[in-house]
Amino acid sequence: MMIVDLGCSTGPNALALVSITVEAIHANCLQFQQPPPEVCVLLNDLPENDFNTVVKSLVTLRQSSDPVAVTGITPGSFYERLFTSESLHLVCSSNSLHWLSKHMTLMSILGMKGSSHGA
Ligand SMILES: C[S@@+](CC[C@H](N)C(=O)[O-])C[C@H]1O[C@@H](n2cnc3c(N)ncnc32)[C@H](O)[C@@H]1O
Repeated sequence: MMIVDLGCSTGPNALALVSITVEAIHANCLQFQQPPPEVCVLLNDLPENDFNTVVKSLVTLRQSSDPVAVTGITPGSFYERLFTSESLHLVCSSNSLHWLSKHMTLMSILGMKGSSHGA
């Protein structure tokens, strides 16, 4: 399962959203007596973000949230193509959406074809 946080920033909040997401997935699987899925967590922000600090937190997340199998950084603007088509299962973004200077749709993030209505 591929999860991405767009505009993760750095510091304590950088992993907050994805950590909660992974915990919720695990709790849900536990409730329905299903094994938790392997999870890949990707963090995105602009290239000038302090990714050195973020990477250290990512290692902690990988060690504490078994079976988070893979973690990674995807630097770049979320206005650009960052991921391959239909590769993401869950996209989160906190405190970034109000910064938007352009219209962005879920379909465009996921690299899917088709029309959509609203951001
Ligand atoms: C206010 S911080 C939010 C940080 C964190 N997500 C949180 O909720 O606390 C907004 C972040 O969005 C990033 N950001 C703004 N525009 C972006 C873009 N076009 N692509 C990727 N990240 C962007 C900024 O660099 C900044 O780190």
